[in-house]
Amino acid sequence: MTAPLLTLSDLGFAWPGHAELLDIPAFHLAQGETLFLKGPSGSGKTTLLGLLGGVQKPSRGSIALLGQELTSLSAGARDHFRVDHTGYIFQQFNLLPFLSVRENVELPCHFSKLRSSRAKQRHGSVHQAAGALLAHLGLKDELLERRADALSIGQQQRVAAARALIGQPELVIADEPTSALDADAREAFLQLLFAECREAGSSLLFVSHDQSLAPLFDRHLSLAELNRAAKPAAEV
Ligand SMILES: Nc1ncnc2c1ncn2[C@@H]1O[C@H](COP(=O)(O)OP(=O)(O)OP(=O)(O)O)[C@@H](O)[C@H]1O
Ligand SMILES: [Mg+2]
Repeated sequence: MTAPLLTLSDLGFAWPGHAELLDIPAFHLAQGETLFLKGPSGSGKTTLLGLLGGVQKPSRGSIALLGQELTSLSAGARDHFRVDHTGYIFQQFNLLPFLSVRENVELPCHFSKLRSSRAKQRHGSVHQAAGALLAHLGLKDELLERRADALSIGQQQRVAAARALIGQPELVIADEPTSALDADAREAFLQLLFAECREAGSSLLFVSHDQSLAPLFDRHLSLAELNRAAKPAAEV
């Protein structure tokens, strides 16, 4: 088995003033692995991804990405480490509406020298890397200079995916990015995402409550299996 890319141990998290939402004794993601994590609405999927991306800090426990303990970094160092090594497709995409499609995709390379140099190495320039990724993901050339808020939801989703993938981060996190698509479009999008991750050697952690997607992944898990703080199904 390849060395884990990401390892959680004894992780605990509660939102201020609330009972513990996550209590995860152990979890790992292997290098290059695609993992589907399912859980009902409100079960803590986005919260967990925020912890993995270093956006929130756990109340206890350890999160190690590429052997680096995230909890021991300052907030600034954590942000830097995240943008170097993690591409994040947010549930609401979080594109910057006043920037063009291409500028949105290039953003991580402005914050990360590592991703910028990887993008240049693979495609010649950051500009070309953005164009190539968008083309692979099926976005027409004529849309590249358009403002991001002038796109359909399906198109915005492709831009968000290209932004996460540019510069080959080791970990790609996708938070339910297909919920607005019909079944055929969902599967087609996933196949493109898999192909890009495979080519870059990235691991993919994908969360959704759409169980039908699970068989497409190397491994699938339910958050309730990992999380000792999850309520038994009968109480949900
Ligand atoms: N910023 C916040 N402050 C306080 N509570 C929060 C915050 N964000 C989420 N929560 C609470 O944490 C719980 C889990 O929310 P989370 O968004 O992680 O669920 P989810 O599994 O991603 O749900 P969905 O499938 O609807 O996206 C919910 O009870 C939610 O109300
Ligand atoms: Mg969510």
